[in-house]
Amino acid sequence: MSIAYLNGEYLPLDQARISPLDRGFLFGDGIYEYIPSYDGKLVGFSLHIERLKRGLDSLKIDLPWSLEQWREIFDELIKRNGAGNQSLYLHISRGADTKRDHAYPKGIKPTVFILVSKIDPPQIADPELAHTFKVSSKQDLRWDRCHIKSTALLGNVMHKQSSVEDGCDEALLYNEKEEITEGASSNIVVVKDGKMATPLLDHHVLPGITRYILFDIVGKYSKRLFEERVVTLAEARDADEIWVTASSKDLVPVVELDGKPLGDGKPGPVWQEVMALYSEHRFDY
Ligand SMILES: Cc1ncc(COP(=O)(O)O)c(C=O)c1O
Repeated sequence: MSIAYLNGEYLPLDQARISPLDRGFLFGDGIYEYIPSYDGKLVGFSLHIERLKRGLDSLKIDLPWSLEQWREIFDELIKRNGAGNQSLYLHISRGADTKRDHAYPKGIKPTVFILVSKIDPPQIADPELAHTFKVSSKQDLRWDRCHIKSTALLGNVMHKQSSVEDGCDEALLYNEKEEITEGASSNIVVVKDGKMATPLLDHHVLPGITRYILFDIVGKYSKRLFEERVVTLAEARDADEIWVTASSKDLVPVVELDGKPLGDGKPGPVWQEVMALYSEHRFDY
C-alpha cells in the first residue's frame, strides 16, 4: 500500500478520506499535476509547480505554497514510498463546504491530496524496445479552457474511451477546421521530411511540460527545425512520424493512425534521435 499525502498527513492510501461535499468530487473544481520521479529525480519540478500555480490562480484557489514547501513534501513521500520509479499525482480542490452551491464559497480550505504510484522505467531511444501507440482521430468536443489543467476531465475521458473502443491507445483531437489540438491526455508532434511541428498553444491545448522540455532540448542540441504552428489533420495523415508527449508517457511514437500504419509502422529515425537527446537532458529541467 503506497503512502499518500492528504491535508498535512502522510497515511496509507486506503486510509485517505475526503468529504462527499468536497468540490473536487461534486464539480471537478480543482487543479492537478502529474510529475514523474526516476530514482528520486523529478522531471520538470519547478515547471510543474509554476503551471499548478497558474491553474490555481485562474480558479481563484488560494494556496500560496512555495517551491520549497512542495519539494519537502515530495522528498518525504518519495522516501516513505521507497526508492525507484514513481509518479506524484497532485490533486488540489477548492475544498469542502457545508452545502452544494455552484458559486465559489468563501473561507473554505483547499484539499491537497498527493498520490504516489510505481511507474515503469522511462522510454529509451531504441525502436525495438520502444513503447508505441495506435491512435484514432476524433473531433475535439471539449470546452474552451483546455489550457487549464483542471480535474474536470470528462471530455478528455470520453475521447480516450472512444479511442480505446477503436482498439487504440490515444485520441488525436482536431477542431472544426480540421486542425490538430492535442491528444486526450497528451500533446502531439508531427514529423515530415525531418522537420517537427506541434500545434500552437491556445485555449484548446494544455501547455505540456514534456512539450516545453522537448522544444527547448531540440532548440539547444539539434539542428533540426521544430515549429509551433497550425498542424492540420491532413498533415498528420501524410506525416512520416507522429509522437505523443506527456509526463506519464515521455515521447511515444505512433505506429498506426485510424487503422493505417504510419510510415513503415515502426518508430521513426527522427524519434530515435530526439528521444536520445531527451533521455540525456530530461533531468536538466
Ligand atoms: C490534455 C493533455 N494535454 C497534454 C498533456 C501533456 O502534459 P505534460 O507533458 O505536462 O504531462 C496532458 C497530460 O496529462 C494532458 O492531459
